[in-house]
Amino acid sequence: MTAVGIDAMEIWVGNLELDLPGTFAPAQGEDPGKYTKGLGLHSSSFPDSYEDIVTMGANAAHRLMDRKGLEPEDIGRIDVATESAFDNSKPVSTYIAGCLEQVYEGDFHHANKGERKFACISGTQSVNDAFNWIKSGRSRGRSALVIATDTALYARDDPGEATQGAGAVAMLISEDPSLVELSTEQGFGSADETDFLKPQQQFPSVDGKRSMQVYLARMREALEDYEAIAEDIHPDSFAYIPFHTPFPGMVRKAALLAYRHTSRDTDVEDSLAEEIGRQPRESEFEDRESYEDAVREYTDALAETETYQSWYEAVVEPTLSISREVGNWYTGSVHIARASALRHAYQNDVDLEGKTLGVGSYGSGAQAEVHAEYVQSGWREEIEAMNVEEQLDSRYDLTFEEYETIHDAHNHDLDTDIEALTTPENEFVFDGWGRMGERQYSYVE
Ligand code: HMG
Repeated sequence: MTAVGIDAMEIWVGNLELDLPGTFAPAQGEDPGKYTKGLGLHSSSFPDSYEDIVTMGANAAHRLMDRKGLEPEDIGRIDVATESAFDNSKPVSTYIAGCLEQVYEGDFHHANKGERKFACISGTQSVNDAFNWIKSGRSRGRSALVIATDTALYARDDPGEATQGAGAVAMLISEDPSLVELSTEQGFGSADETDFLKPQQQFPSVDGKRSMQVYLARMREALEDYEAIAEDIHPDSFAYIPFHTPFPGMVRKAALLAYRHTSRDTDVEDSLAEEIGRQPRESEFEDRESYEDAVREYTDALAETETYQSWYEAVVEPTLSISREVGNWYTGSVHIARASALRHAYQNDVDLEGKTLGVGSYGSGAQAEVHAEYVQSGWREEIEAMNVEEQLDSRYDLTFEEYETIHDAHNHDLDTDIEALTTPENEFVFDGWGRMGERQYSYVE
């Protein structure tokens, strides 16, 4: 059967920016090194007062449709993934379709619309839904629009405040895609966890340190599950590995775990044996605790090797460039990691066609998914057409006081009416409330 995957993608970055080491750290009385070296973040993107998950999602989708010359009748499905929804009944996809219908002649009345929630992993689940819809023969030749959109804000003074972000990713899922084909093989790691959740509340309750352990545990399970159905995998099987990136420091930990796991019983383990010994095997230890201590020791030594460091620089570091400038986008975060990697390849003239990406998605609560993607011949033109730098560079740089006000303006429990800090241009904006309490939108030229 023909290939199905991501034909094109566009991102929409919140119009405001908070400089983390320069503005946020000093105001919090923190060392800027926590951001630049520890978490690996330079800035966060924020929505201005007229922006929200609908405007950002609709703006990303509008750019995508215009660039690809699409009309509403070309789209058979609109799936939105978000964990920042403000309506418990009417899905965000209907709000976004309503926005798009303001600027196109046709309508989406025959498109199936839905919304998915499972923390950050729901973006990948929506891509999978679209893949299955096309593969099953139900798409009638149409494409699916998948939009991952979030305002990832935490309560003031929560440790998570350091990792905030806001933005949307729109992806077109089609037959014969230009960007990447998705693998049929998938691995899952899933368990009922309460490390990060929002039970009927806007800002998350989060046990940050535990959430990191849960991320690593589920990711390892997903990798094992993937290995069980894919052929033997090796660290060099993948040109890039985009992971869900709540902040780059988290990916540093996940990448080391993935490298240790995929290098076991390979020529890489053999070649490192003289330098750092072989990987510990549980059968060689009397109890689990001593085995785990040995694994930690081996992993620390592995991280210091030239072999690991050069692999990380080539395969993982390039996936982090957008995330460093925007923070966590929850459902969109693994998709901006993919975009960062492909942008890096484009900028460095890397020949990627036919190469494989290993994609590690994750959502708290908790579930990880691992699959492969095969880079298609049109990838270069697709990446060239994205305007990531322009969007990042044109953000308004917040002072700390402005940041405090904008955080209040997006806090559903406060009634803070503020002047926008930027002037919208050629974009959808939130412009007030309807008679049933619904949010309303218009397009500003
Ligand atoms: P924290 O207490 O603010 O930070 O919590 P910290 O003191 O642990 O410092 C962070 C790192 O910076 C540490 O590195 C420090 O050592 C280092 P590590 O030990 O972990 O390698 N550091 C420094 N390095 C150099 N120079 C310095 C310096 N100071 C400190 N001067 C935490 C950080 C991530 C826990 C917090 O921000 C948080 O709770 N974030 C939200 C939860 C989160 O992002 N969890 C990630 C996994 S769960 C996930 O990914 C799902 C999620 O996206 C949601 C969803 O699925 O929907 C969140």
